[in-house]
Amino acid sequence: MIRFEQVSKRYPDGTTAVDDLSFEVAEGELVTLVGPSGCGKTTTMMMVNRLVEPTSGRVLVDGRDVAGVDPVALRRKIGYVIQQVGLFPHRTVLDNTATVPALLGWKKAAARARAAELLELVGLDPAVHGPRYPAQLSGGQRQRVGVARALAADPPVLLMDEPFGAVDPVVRERLQKEFLALQATVRKTVLLVTHDIEEAVRMGDRMAVYGQGRIEQFDAPATVLASPATPYVADFVGGDRALKRLAVTPVTAHDLDPLPDSPAETPATRARTDGAPASVPVPPSVALGSPLKDALALLLQDDSGRLTVTDGDGRPLGTLTPAGVHRALRRTTA
Ligand SMILES: Nc1ncnc2c1ncn2[C@@H]1O[C@H](COP(=O)(O)OP(=O)(O)O)[C@@H](O)[C@H]1O
Ligand SMILES: [Mg+2]
Repeated sequence: MIRFEQVSKRYPDGTTAVDDLSFEVAEGELVTLVGPSGCGKTTTMMMVNRLVEPTSGRVLVDGRDVAGVDPVALRRKIGYVIQQVGLFPHRTVLDNTATVPALLGWKKAAARARAAELLELVGLDPAVHGPRYPAQLSGGQRQRVGVARALAADPPVLLMDEPFGAVDPVVRERLQKEFLALQATVRKTVLLVTHDIEEAVRMGDRMAVYGQGRIEQFDAPATVLASPATPYVADFVGGDRALKRLAVTPVTAHDLDPLPDSPAETPATRARTDGAPASVPVPPSVALGSPLKDALALLLQDDSGRLTVTDGDGRPLGTLTPAGVHRALRRTTA
């Protein structure tokens, strides 16, 4: 859906911001661009909607070289979310959200109805927040409006430049989760720029790790964490990359130990047949496919030292122990 072909950008002052970049983002895929400040992430993103023109190479959106597409028409098909949000201060939240449909010539009532729908989708109450002005919202709420506005005309492509950078860590994590839930339903093709490795790992189907103007590695987060392509990437993802992998490695059937043979043999039932109260705790359970991070958190909070892993219908499939978590992480190391 988005394709970079040997793209370079050199600014008039001689700065090479992007150097011979080639990559592709599939339709419905969320790719994060991550790297230190000044490595060329924003420049890359702005070449998609022609806020910046490449010095050489081509950028294609949906098979068309954007150099041949009218920038205004192009930008109406590409949602754009930035850290500073850029809401119009003297327009209500509802009218801010309706900006692009209005520009596209929708009737006022239709544009406002669409805006109200989008506000609801991002977790705001159109009746409460719609009539307010941006200054009357919290930072997190303003970011939600930014996302709603970018989605209002239902563009196939979404560009997000440090979209959750301006809010505190707790709100940021909530916005990230909300956006992922939203993305699961709207399935946009998304480029998301961040300097935060945790965000890149959590949000990306794949991630591009930038060095100076170049991509050092372009892979699924679990792969980047398990097998950094270069010492630079290893250093960038951090010495605790094995811990970060917990969040992106699911519990699979391979990681499980068998369930206790028969229920009669479990300590809990033994205690009951002895006439004593069933005081042995039942291990907590987690669904197959859950992140190892969630499983480990439960394990650490519980005395039993194991978890029951269930299928989607809650039927027990096996047992996960700390050794199983260790096996799972070793298994996913190339
Ligand atoms: N308009 C500009 N003119 C000159 N240099 C620029 C301009 N915009 C960005 N740069 C430079 O290009 C490099 C990449 O910048 P940028 O793409 O904003 O990086 P990032 O988003 O990764 O922080 C930096 O060295 C920056 O100073
Ligand atoms: Mg930037």
